Amino acid sequence: MDSDDFVSVVGHSGGGKSTLLNMIAGLLKPTSGSVTIQDQDVFALSDEKGSFFRNSKIGYVPQGQGLLANLTVLENVCLPFYLFKREGDVIPKALSLLERMGIGSLAASYPRQLSGGEIRRVSIARALINAPALSGIQDAS
Ligand SMILES: Nc1ncnc2c1ncn2[C@@H]1O[C@H](COP(=O)(O)OP(=O)(O)OP(=O)(O)O)[C@@H](O)[C@H]1O
Ligand SMILES: [Mg+2]
Repeated sequence: MDSDDFVSVVGHSGGGKSTLLNMIAGLLKPTSGSVTIQDQDVFALSDEKGSFFRNSKIGYVPQGQGLLANLTVLENVCLPFYLFKREGDVIPKALSLLERMGIGSLAASYPRQLSGGEIRRVSIARALINAPALSGIQDAS
């Protein structure tokens, strides 16, 4: 797969799409086989190294509501950046991502104040904040 490839996984409800994405994201260990991303066997890493690998390489939008209720939209988007103490000012980048998603005015709002589609777009901005090599969205419809 090339770096600018776009792949869709299509199948019936309960067919295993989320299970597959959870495995690619390193969140669910397969009972057999392995997952390799950029020559790295994802499940060969320790917990800490695996978390760092996910945080820096993979942007992931889960199917369910994954935002933290007590953080604002802006704080939710910045969280993956702060978790590993990156250098630089992440706020302008986060605000610019929110603008591109058409929800710049919601930066100070809390998830409970948002519509389903707005929550979805915040999740996408959060998945992109660390400029991951690999990004995935569950249930993109
Ligand atoms: N944590 C779990 N424990 C046991 N079985 C599970 C678990 N999560 C999912 N399943 C089962 O595994 C199968 C695949 O589920 P999965 O969530 O991957 O489907 P999906 O293709 O994403 O479906 P949808 O389109 O409805 O989101 C389903 O039969 C589901 O009931
Ligand atoms: Mg699913």
